[in-house]
Amino acid sequence: MMKIQNITITSKVVLAPMAGVTDQAFRLLCRRMGAGIVYTEFVSANGIIRGNDRTLQMMRYEPEERPIGVQIFGETADVLAKSAEYIQRVVNPDLIDLNFGCPVPKITKKGAGSAILKDLPRMEEIARAVVAAVDIPVTAKIRAGWDISCINATETALLLEAAGIKAVTLHPRTTKMLYKGSAKWEMIAEVKSLLKIPVIGNGDITCAQDAQRMMAETGCDAVMIGRRSLGNPWIFQEINQFLDTGIEPLPPTVLERVELCRYHLEMEMRSRGDRSGANYMKKHLGWYLKGFPNASAYRQQLIRMQEAQAMHDSINEMIDYFSEHSDEGQIRPVLNDALSSEVSYG
Ligand SMILES: Cc1cc2nc3c(=O)[nH]c(=O)nc-3n(C[C@H](O)[C@H](O)[C@H](O)COP(=O)(O)O)c2cc1C
Repeated sequence: MMKIQNITITSKVVLAPMAGVTDQAFRLLCRRMGAGIVYTEFVSANGIIRGNDRTLQMMRYEPEERPIGVQIFGETADVLAKSAEYIQRVVNPDLIDLNFGCPVPKITKKGAGSAILKDLPRMEEIARAVVAAVDIPVTAKIRAGWDISCINATETALLLEAAGIKAVTLHPRTTKMLYKGSAKWEMIAEVKSLLKIPVIGNGDITCAQDAQRMMAETGCDAVMIGRRSLGNPWIFQEINQFLDTGIEPLPPTVLERVELCRYHLEMEMRSRGDRSGANYMKKHLGWYLKGFPNASAYRQQLIRMQEAQAMHDSINEMIDYFSEHSDEGQIRPVLNDALSSEVSYG
């Protein structure tokens, strides 16, 4: 079992921070499906200091999501430390994660995110200042390096450990690679072999077998799942089951997918209000509803809808239809457990 300072993590698979995706509803869903830690989207340290309303909203969470990490990005040690102090005092998550991996030019041009991989003295200053500002564990998420001529994940990870960081997540692509090419898992093995603190491996895991392979090849303490969780929160339960029992997971049935999609919609409506919850849900619909007959027609129909109730009714009709016309069997207990907590909305 992985421990990050004094926090025991009961599953070896965690949900990646993803901007525009890992909001409160999605995190809770993934946590219920077996993610050992969930993270907020990256939150601007400057926004926190300024008291920006939307920024502060991004850090709202429900107790059931815990352990939860709030991920922050910023340029200077001073602002990041001040925002961390605020987060501990007001938001009180289980940990704070520093973003040293974001490759988006809008962020790196200002010297934040993965731009800090090119400036290790500043990274060290940031890590030390944030660690000193709070009592809760501070973790960090890094990439392989800036580009092919600046691959420095091992140096970076050692520096972070020495500065008091309590766990490192490595996504072994360079900033310049964005999400192209393949993640170099051997770098995770190298970092793991050098560090005493837990190392979380990340990049390109698409199934339970991949997760097991990453753990076997790298020795990492846990794996982090990003893109493969989209429309597919089952991945956490599947990986847990496979690591624990070696039993190969069955993919979710169409009925299970549509049921979970409805549940997710209800959670978004509860957390954002009906209309904006339904609107927000539109990108997730595209991820849940694919790979079965007429999936794209269903998606098109739902995406055009303005009213939450209409969307909800329409998904209910799909569920009725697939209950009658699908012979893939019953909904499995894991889904029933996740869905058993009532969601009230509207
Ligand atoms: C839509 C999207 C948003 C992301 N936002 C963040 C973010 O806010 N913070 C962060 O550290 N990484 C972010 N990432 C990177 C992921 O956390 C992860 O490192 C990356 O997707 C590789 O893992 P995967 O192959 O499992 O997707 C984002 C990735 C995606 C696809």
